[in-house]
Amino acid sequence: MSSAQQTADPGLYLPRSARIEAVADLTAREKFFRLTLDRPLGHQPGQFVMVTVPGMGECAISITCGPREDNILEMVIRKAGNLTGVIHGLKAGDTLGVRGPFGRGFDLAEFHGRDVLVVAGGLGLVPLRSLLTPMIADHGRFGRITLITGARTPAETLFREELARWREKDNVEVIEMVDSTAHLPWDGRVGLVTTPIGALGLDAARTTVVLCGPPVMYKFVLLELDRHYHVPAERIFIDLERRMRCGVGKCGHCQINQAYCCQQGPVFRYSELRDFPEALA
Ligand SMILES: Cc1cc2nc3c(=O)[nH]c(=O)nc-3n(C[C@H](O)[C@H](O)[C@H](O)COP(=O)(O)OP(=O)(O)OC[C@H]3O[C@@H](n4cnc5c(N)ncnc54)[C@H](O)[C@@H]3O)c2cc1C
Ligand code: FES
Repeated sequence: MSSAQQTADPGLYLPRSARIEAVADLTAREKFFRLTLDRPLGHQPGQFVMVTVPGMGECAISITCGPREDNILEMVIRKAGNLTGVIHGLKAGDTLGVRGPFGRGFDLAEFHGRDVLVVAGGLGLVPLRSLLTPMIADHGRFGRITLITGARTPAETLFREELARWREKDNVEVIEMVDSTAHLPWDGRVGLVTTPIGALGLDAARTTVVLCGPPVMYKFVLLELDRHYHVPAERIFIDLERRMRCGVGKCGHCQINQAYCCQQGPVFRYSELRDFPEALA
């Protein structure tokens, strides 16, 4: 979204009211929210919104649904502190404020005809679901789509039923990893998200890679990609989270060197970040 558009749209500065239609527990710490807005959000995969609890404050939350023509917004919220704790106490029929969408997301057209490897660690699957949903719905337009998800234990995995449906599509492979089974039933694999990468047999020239997860994951996934495939840095996208306050390039909270994560990110090409080691630290 251009800064001219951001200036023109009051919905970016003033929260609009959104009604919670459904809330579901995904894990002990994460809840899924489906909200209805007054008009379609008009977002790109990978963008985020600022969610307001009137009188309390705002926090940045990724949009987890793919682009849609209706007025629906889907989010997954981890109970991390005061604000997210209050949001966790809300139920269907309650309202929240929403500003956005913000940031630079993914241009789906750039993925057409490409093989795509998506690596999502922990909550990283939440923003990347907004990219995967439209890709898998239209999978004939893409090459081979491989998703590797990672969670600490089976109790922390997200969207498993949806992942099982994706796995049934032609040319879609879903590999679910957990660090440890923690003595829980588990039919996926055990290990880190880096474990399956070497055996995927990627064609580096045809492949686009997308990463989102904890910062430590980036370092090791990038090393593993480099060891086996040499995917060009322009073809590796990294979805970064930084502390954000305004969302519109004014407060500086999200700054990494001269880059404002809320506007130039959260989705970056690795080629844009290579000179900023602190971005991936
Ligand atoms: C672009 C972006 C997208 C995000 N998407 C999601 C999402 O889809 N779902 C979700 O649950 N959370 C998401 N977050 C993180 C979310 O914004 C924070 O968890 C939230 O602001 C915490 O607010 P709080 O008042 O409840 O907790 P606070 O009291 O502010 O903080 C509680 C704890 O969370 C930590 N924390 C606060 N902000 C962040 C942050 N940005 N990153 C990591 N740790 C943080 C604090 O250090 C503290 O330990 C996103 C953040 C960004 C910047
Ligand atoms: S969040 Fe304020 S400048 Fe980016």
